[in-house]
Parts: sequence; C-alpha cells; structure tokens
Amino acid sequence: MRIKNKYKKPMTLRCCDAGSRCSTSVFLLSLLGCLILFQLYCYVDHTDRSGGGGEARLHVSHHPQVRELQEVEEENLNVPPPKGKRSPRAVKRRPKRTTTLIDEFLDENSQMRHVFFPGHKRAIDPMQVVDNDKYHYYPGRMWLDTEGHPIQAHGGGILYDKNSRTYYWYGEYKDGPTYHAHKKGAARVDIIGVGCYSSKDLWTWKHEGIVLAAEETNETHDLHKSNVLERPKVIYNEKTEKYVMWMHIDDSNYTKASVGVAISDAPDGPFNYLGSHRPHGFESRDMTVFKDDDGAAYIIYSSEDNSELHIGPLTEDYLNVTSVMRRVLVGQHREAPALFKHQGTYYMITSGCTGWAPNEALAHAAESVMGPWETMGNPCLGGNKMFRLTTFFAQSTFVLPIPGFPGMFIFMADRWNPADLRDSRYVWLPLIVAGPADEPLEYSFGFPWWSRVSIYWHRKWRLPQGWNPFQTM
Ligand code: GAL
Repeated sequence: MRIKNKYKKPMTLRCCDAGSRCSTSVFLLSLLGCLILFQLYCYVDHTDRSGGGGEARLHVSHHPQVRELQEVEEENLNVPPPKGKRSPRAVKRRPKRTTTLIDEFLDENSQMRHVFFPGHKRAIDPMQVVDNDKYHYYPGRMWLDTEGHPIQAHGGGILYDKNSRTYYWYGEYKDGPTYHAHKKGAARVDIIGVGCYSSKDLWTWKHEGIVLAAEETNETHDLHKSNVLERPKVIYNEKTEKYVMWMHIDDSNYTKASVGVAISDAPDGPFNYLGSHRPHGFESRDMTVFKDDDGAAYIIYSSEDNSELHIGPLTEDYLNVTSVMRRVLVGQHREAPALFKHQGTYYMITSGCTGWAPNEALAHAAESVMGPWETMGNPCLGGNKMFRLTTFFAQSTFVLPIPGFPGMFIFMADRWNPADLRDSRYVWLPLIVAGPADEPLEYSFGFPWWSRVSIYWHRKWRLPQGWNPFQTM
C-alpha cells in the first residue's frame, strides 16, 4: 500500500504538472495564433484602406525600365586640394579641415563650379538635341524652354490640367540680378513674378509668360519688387472652376512670414492677387498646398521660427484656411515640404533649414494627412555620401505622380546658386515608393506600415517609355 501510494501520488502530481504545462502551452499557442490573426487582419486592413496593394507595388518595381531607374548610380568626384599654401600661422589658427564637396559647392570661385553648374554650352536645347538626348533629364544642367531661354520656375510645382490635358509648371521667375538687401540677409532677387510653362510630355516646356507679376510702383503692395514671393503652387478647384495659387509672401527680412492667394479662370493666367495673411494667425514661411483624391485641399507651412510644420484644410473654394490646424514634426526644424500620396498613405519630403545652402532631405509618412507624421529617414540613394547628405546639392520643392506607374514619381528640387540665383538649376529624379522602409517607426507585430521612399541619383535618365501623359491621376 505504502509502495502503491508512494508511486500513486507522484504519478498524479506529474500528470497534474504535465496538464498545467500542457494547458499553458495551449494558452500560449492560442495567444500566438490570435496575434498572428490580428497581425494579418491589420495588414490586410491596412492594404485595403490603402487601395489594395500588392499588385500595384509589383507593377511599378517589376517594370524593366523602372527597375533600371532603381539601380544605384555612384559618383566619384575628387575634391581638388585647397588653392594656395596656407601659412604655418593660419594652420595654427584654424584646425585642419579637409575641403569638402559642400565647401566647393558654396565657393563661387571653385575649380569644380562647372560640375555643379554646367555652362550654357552643355545645356539641353530641346530644339536641337540629338535623338539620344530626347526626353532625358540631366539634373543640374541648364534647362531651356522651347524658345531656347533658361527656364525660370524655381521653388515651383506642377499642375496637371485635366481640361486641356496639359502640364503647367509654375515657379519663381528670378531672371534679375542677385544682391543682398541687408548686410547679414540672404541673397535675393527682386520679385519679377510667377513664371509659367506648359508641356504635354513633361520634357518640352513652352513659356506661357509671367502669370502673376510684381508691382513696380506701390511700395505697400505685397508684390512690390522689394518683397519676397516664393514657392508658388497652383491647384484647380472643380466646384468653382478656378485655378488657385498659394505662395509664400514676405518682406526682405522674412519677418512678414505670410501666405498669399491668387486666382485665375485659366491655368496660364493671368492670376488675380487676392491678398496675404498669416494662416491660423501663425508665421508661415516655406509652404505648399496639397489636393487630396477627394477634392479636399490642405496647406502645409513651416512655422514657429521654422521649428515645426502646420497642416490645415483649406475652405471648399481653396481661397482660405479653416480654423482646423495640427502641428507636426514639432521641434524637427524642417522646411521645403513636398507632399504626395501612394496607396492611401501620405508621404512628405522636407529639407533642413540652411537658407540657400543644401542639406539632408528626410522622408515622412502618415496615415492621415493631418498626422501624426513619422520621420523615416533620408530617401536619397546613389551619387556619393556628400550627394546623399545634401539632397544631391538641392532642396525639395514638389513631387509629381507619374500616371500609369503607381508608386513612381518625379522628385523636383532646386539646386540654388546663391551667387547668381537666376542661374539656379533643377534637379529632377525618379522617386519610387516600394519595399519596406529602412527604419519603420510603426510596426504591427513585424509588418512595417510604411513603404520605403527612395530617390535615385542619375546623371541622365528618362521616364519609362509608355507612360501615359493623358491618363487621369
Ligand atoms: C530657404 C528656403 C527658400 C528661400 C531661402 C532664402 O530656406 O527654402 O525658399 O526662402 O531659404 O534664404
């Protein structure tokens, strides 16, 4: 009996032990199952909300010509040694510092000037190009309009006008002398107005004139030539059938920090200036407007000394802001915002705040245009390290979707030339949203929410053949 009991008890205990271990395992397995199901649900829900993903993603990144654009192209630029020998005293005074490409870029006497700002002789003249060059973009070269004049559409953006099936590129017309209004102020050009160019193929640009001109005499007018008009953007309002232009309006000290609004019946102007204000009562410097698929439009501007961005919906007629505003990227000091949308997710490229000098771009993403916005990191690929840390020596201004190629965009940036602003160049490069983000901030049990935004450096590139300029976006 004792023996029996002796063995019975432990047996019961073992059974009990195994049972509880077993039920713990069952519990853990079911929990894991639930988590996996929840994760799948979230993922499917997310892709559903974003307009049913996989197919389009495959579409863009498996297209052979898009794949070609995704090849990383390196640049090997040797920085020449600093000119002249430095005296031993100078060496003592200043710590030794190697000349960087940024120094060279900012030095108007640099021997490498032609690398960043190639001369007229090597410009693309759309009227005389050899076939091999046709439809190719050369970032940083001087771009000419159909009459052979350098395109003046800096800090600009593009509107696709469905009515006329034409692209309109608007930007700062800066064809005047560069000077400093104040000792410590930024280099500037007097306001001349907003330049407008039209194109059917995004490559041949016809000058449509200055669609919003400076005010020559009235010194109290916002558009008086001594003031600042920057980053004009135009959106079309289907309800009112008006073209509405928003722009950064400032005085030469950048203390007015306002937005201006102008309106036109036609995309090629003339635009009628309606006035300026501080949106939501806050400072507004670099800004852009974004029109969503549902027709709602938003303004995004750098505020609070450029330390944060503000986003808010425009009124139905796009002529004003509403009372709704959210602060985003607070404390991140970003400017030059360029917004776009892919599969229901909103993306934005911004620059840092270093005036005309180039700096590192960052990509951000959000599920709602009003935020919260998350920072994903530097989108630039290729070139060399310095290229990537300076957004290819340029600053974001606009991101244009390419119809027929979901996930493919043109990243438009300005390579500012502070010594001669009219000679600033355009850096347009393929931007592709595909694959998982490097450092996704928001994970759902291992599934990253965000796709990677990549801007690929190419000395020369073209849009994939067969892109359909007339497909509605
Ligand atoms: C930059 C801004 C440009 C222009 C420039 C003036 O930060 O993005 O649009 O305002 O400063 O220095």
